[in-house]
Amino acid sequence: MAHQDFGVVILAAGLGTRMKSRQAKVLHQAGGESLIGLVVQTALRLVAPERIYVVVGYQADLVRKALDGRGVQFLDQPQQLGTGHAVLVGRQALEKAAPRLLVLYGDCPLVEAETLEGLMHCHRETGAAATVLTTRLEDPAGYGRLLRDSGGSIRAIVEEKAATPGEREIREINSGIYCFDTDHLFQCLPQIRPDNPAGEYYLTDVIGWLVERGLSVAGVEVQEASQVLGINTRVELAQVDARLRERKVRQLMLAGVTIHKPETVTIDDAVSVGPDTVIEPFAQLLGRCSIGSGCRIRSCSIVSDSQLADEVTVEPFSFIHESRLETGVRIGPYARLRTGNHIGPGAKVGNFVELKKTRLGARSKALHLAYLGDSTIGADVNIGAGTITCNYDGTHKHSTVIEDGAFVGTNSTLVAPLKIGAGAYVAAGSVVTEEVPPEALGIARSRQTNKPGWATRRRGREKVPDGGETPA
Ligand code: UD1
Ligand code: CA
Repeated sequence: MAHQDFGVVILAAGLGTRMKSRQAKVLHQAGGESLIGLVVQTALRLVAPERIYVVVGYQADLVRKALDGRGVQFLDQPQQLGTGHAVLVGRQALEKAAPRLLVLYGDCPLVEAETLEGLMHCHRETGAAATVLTTRLEDPAGYGRLLRDSGGSIRAIVEEKAATPGEREIREINSGIYCFDTDHLFQCLPQIRPDNPAGEYYLTDVIGWLVERGLSVAGVEVQEASQVLGINTRVELAQVDARLRERKVRQLMLAGVTIHKPETVTIDDAVSVGPDTVIEPFAQLLGRCSIGSGCRIRSCSIVSDSQLADEVTVEPFSFIHESRLETGVRIGPYARLRTGNHIGPGAKVGNFVELKKTRLGARSKALHLAYLGDSTIGADVNIGAGTITCNYDGTHKHSTVIEDGAFVGTNSTLVAPLKIGAGAYVAAGSVVTEEVPPEALGIARSRQTNKPGWATRRRGREKVPDGGETPA
């Protein structure tokens, strides 16, 4: 972060009409992060947060909230009259911020910090009044075009809407990323007029203005055009998302994670995965997850905001949210861990088991068809198939405690608040409403009676006169 001479301005006030959304464009997500979050992340690699200024307008409060905790500054542009106007509204703060400004657009999140450093370096070395980051595109539609004179020097930028058919043929485009000399920028901006088909104050007009006054404008061409892909529509949003996903799985694979069919998995940027973990097709690891080493996340499972220790297996089609799984845990297939669960070492949660705010102790098992909510379950407990904690009485939630070594028989209904003591048994099919003491057997169901010969007598009654059987 050696760039003491630079401030960064990020334009993020527009609605983004072409997204056809009620949500501000910069709040849409790619790679599991908002577009504005991605751009700010890159800016933070260049300068201190106090020197990053985000221009907000449309849904300003939500954009501020999305950047909560990053320590950046905000400038308000209540009416979005164009990119030139967006910079001008911050004049007071920006003139004091630094002698040079790097301008970034909030809808261009793939540019890398190294590319921006190259641009800043060139701007500083050449002493130009402005330096534009450009690239060449096969299809430049929608972008501003670079106009150069016969000697190759930049003359101006023309927006597509204002361009002549000849100018539209130009393939060198404006990325929307520039370095400016702060003084020159604010000499020019108040002079810019919205005399274009869109009626907007274009930041791009600054370039021509500077050249006309004999000031030098430099260009830096980035070879990897995808870095400056701007997002205007959801098609471009999907392209950027795919790039970020590719980048993430590549990093993980190079760090020792096996990923089968990596193009099908979705892994957010903040996820960490230990070496020798295997991730199967269509798995999703979202939000802030840490996955240990030697784990296996099988197909179509979704893990979000959770911590998995080493050697954890998540079988297919499982859903794990805000939960902590210790070493050697096995989950699923088809399990749902809703929120606030802590699964002890070696414990197993099987198919069609739902857990909410439940602690399951070491080596305990709930292998089939159960609901365990608001429960504290000790070590070496067996929860039989179909066990249900009745934790909600319609008004309040109540908790269930099952102590170490207890055995809960199949299809038990545990009416909370309830305690089942250490080593106790609950007989299958019980509806348990009272505490079962340690080492006791709790049976809570009606006793079975058998009526000998009943079936034979019944069939006898049903015989029809000619001796044939009645149809079933
Ligand atoms: C802009 C450039 C174009 C360049 C392209 C690169 C201008 C006039 N044109 O066009 O030369 O090739 O980006 O992607 O700058 N914004 C505000 N306030 C406003 C208007 C916009 O903050 O009043 C913000 C938007 O939220 C967005 C960014 O500025 O993040 C760019 O605006 P957008 O309308 O997308 O510009 P483009 O038409 O793509
Ligand atoms: Ca744009």
